[in-house]
Amino acid sequence: MNKVIDPDRTAPVAAPSAAVAPAISPVRLAHVVLRTSKFDELLRWYRSVLCADVAFSNGHIAFLAYDDEHHRIALIQVPGLQAQPAGICGVHHIAFTYASLGDLVATYERLEGLGIRPVWCVNHGPTTSMYYADPDGNQVELQIDNCATVEEAGAFFFTPAFESNPIGVDFDPADLARRFRAGEDEAAIKQRPPSGPRGVDGINLR
Ligand SMILES: [Fe+2]
Repeated sequence: MNKVIDPDRTAPVAAPSAAVAPAISPVRLAHVVLRTSKFDELLRWYRSVLCADVAFSNGHIAFLAYDDEHHRIALIQVPGLQAQPAGICGVHHIAFTYASLGDLVATYERLEGLGIRPVWCVNHGPTTSMYYADPDGNQVELQIDNCATVEEAGAFFFTPAFESNPIGVDFDPADLARRFRAGEDEAAIKQRPPSGPRGVDGINLR
């Protein structure tokens, strides 16, 4: 059973009664579907950013794959869609994890060469994250895990540093790449620097 964190962080979560069928979590997050009026532009962007293959496209619907799933991103062309206004509810971003700091840096450098630049770079603590915006303004986070284990990352949520600043500390991606290429210790690069308090009012939530 998945661990459940009670909102007050202290109360145990009751085990299901033997008379109740067990609740079942999905085995994985399968895919994200984006509707767009910029089908070709988004197709190029996601292929470039994710190094994805087109598993299927008929010019109106496309499935993009880059790992062992048959598709992780799907695009649907819908003519005449309006741009996303600020101040609406919904998905803020979708995040993709790279295997190493070197892979993230190499991806940042490759995308720079294509003129695709991050809109926000932040060390959240558990992750080093570069946020990009697709041609429709949907935000995509490219990240690495800073911690060796899920438990270590989860423990960060209960530190004083996270309590006063659950957002993270911004960084300059060019500086991060320079430090990596100079051979600086990766643990030092991934370490979130100390910071003062920070809340969600200081970030672009659209
Ligand atoms: Fe994220």
